[in-house]
Amino acid sequence: MATVREVTDIIEPIYVMEGAGVLLRRSIATQRLDYLDPFLLFDHFGSRNPQDYLAGFPMHPHRGIETVTYMLDGFVEHKDSMGNAGTIGRGDCQWMTSGSGIIHEEMPKEPEEGMMEGFQLWVNLPAKLKMTEPRYQEIKSSKIPEVRHDDGLVVRVVAGEFEGVKGAITEIYADPEYLDVSLPAGASLEQPITRGHTAFAYLFEGEAIFGDSQPNSLEKRTTVQATRLVVFGDGDLVRVKTDQNPARLLLMSGKPLNEPIARYGPFVMNTNEEIQQALEDIQNDTFVK
Ligand code: CO
Repeated sequence: MATVREVTDIIEPIYVMEGAGVLLRRSIATQRLDYLDPFLLFDHFGSRNPQDYLAGFPMHPHRGIETVTYMLDGFVEHKDSMGNAGTIGRGDCQWMTSGSGIIHEEMPKEPEEGMMEGFQLWVNLPAKLKMTEPRYQEIKSSKIPEVRHDDGLVVRVVAGEFEGVKGAITEIYADPEYLDVSLPAGASLEQPITRGHTAFAYLFEGEAIFGDSQPNSLEKRTTVQATRLVVFGDGDLVRVKTDQNPARLLLMSGKPLNEPIARYGPFVMNTNEEIQQALEDIQNDTFVK
């Protein structure tokens, strides 16, 4: 019988200042949760007050990781050392593989109405790909497949697969799943996740019930209210349902690397020597290969 993954930890995001002064909520890369292999950082930015984000993230380097930006609302202008420049807006995703190194700028802009909101996830690269060639996958909202159920469930498949529908982002080493899930009241979702892969949900609206939703397994259910990051133990599938309230969450999974991690700001390598090298490369202007 397939095993339902149970909730093993519930993380309350903490407010941090990043970049040139952007207020955001962080739930991975904190004292509470250093990383969730292969995920190294998870940030939720969002505000109706432009002062919370307009300072943005001016030119900064990355090496050894992938940075994934997914926008709910508003937009971010970006440009980088490879000559790319553009804007990502509502529902768009940018999956950036820094590899050996890129230097880029990410500047949130004030939307004409509403708020600016989105997420940044860092996915680790294995030792053999840390110095790979940098690469961008930039996917417009209209290219992200959506699955709709009669009960009102809507799943946007950013990466991975849901009910046979493949995500827009492909060829990522960690074999990640990145689903944007909207559940009205009284809806449910079941998603198989490869055994051994790390899985978490980030509940950012409403209330959801995680774990086994069979009538005879009450004790294995966990009800969670936004905003929380929910870590799942191992198993074959994740079950989420809503009762009286709607919910919106991201469901993520990926293959752990089980490699040593040496991190220093925007560089994540395997050894301290490699971090030293990254710093020297910046100093000597040889960072971008
Ligand atoms: Co960046």
